[in-house]
Amino acid sequence: MVCRVKFELINVSKIKNGKPILRNINLQFLSGSKYTILGPSGSGKTTLLRLLNRMEEPSSGEILFDGENIKNIPVTKLRKKVGMVFQIPVVFEGTVEDNLLVPYSIKGIPPDKEEIKKALTLSGLKESFLSQRAMDLSVGEKQRLNLARALLNNPEVLLLDEPTSALDYETALTLLDSVNELNRVLGLTIIMVTHQVEHMRILNGSAIYIENGTVLDKKTTQSRALI
Ligand SMILES: Nc1ncnc2c1ncn2[C@@H]1O[C@H](COP(=O)(O)OP(=O)(O)O)[C@@H](O)[C@H]1O
Ligand SMILES: [Mg+2]
Repeated sequence: MVCRVKFELINVSKIKNGKPILRNINLQFLSGSKYTILGPSGSGKTTLLRLLNRMEEPSSGEILFDGENIKNIPVTKLRKKVGMVFQIPVVFEGTVEDNLLVPYSIKGIPPDKEEIKKALTLSGLKESFLSQRAMDLSVGEKQRLNLARALLNNPEVLLLDEPTSALDYETALTLLDSVNELNRVLGLTIIMVTHQVEHMRILNGSAIYIENGTVLDKKTTQSRALI
């Protein structure tokens, strides 16, 4: 199997209001692989994810997507390929179906009912949810709805920023199962921030440990994250 590099960060630093947040990050994310980003609160994990879909720009260094500098990729195009799921799910008024029509209205194309059903099922929600009011869903179901909405852009990468932190123990585990399934069935590259070592184990990807804006070496990562 050819391991293509999906994302490459070359000497990436980020300074906000004069404060260094990320320092000289060099990383490669391989296509179809899974990654867990760990580290204490405030270490720069969210900032790193936000750089990958251009919600923020690096202060210096380069980020390549499929070998191309992301500065040269239109933001809308990049964000279709690089979906993001946040800590707190984002839900709009209306039914679950209304929420899943949003990607189509953004793209200006007619909705594809079969595609919607497939995204829903892959995200672990039954078809019967389509007619439910989205605001009435549990947090776990809302997070699944967010996954489904991201899938409708046919992404190649999913960025997940502590997607389970608002969920109870069991719901968190089943959501992680769905994420693993998306990687297995669709070959999505998964980059997930968590601070729970158990979640890292379930995702079963490579661990990246960030502390004070710096990526720790493999050995220190193991001692920090695997005890
Ligand atoms: N606009 C900003 N100006 C200055 N510092 C910021 C700004 N936004 C975030 N930070 C700081 O950047 C650091 C990293 O934040 P973040 O990437 O959210 O960390 P994490 O996700 O690991 O908790 C934190 O210390 C935070 O306070
Ligand atoms: Mg964060």
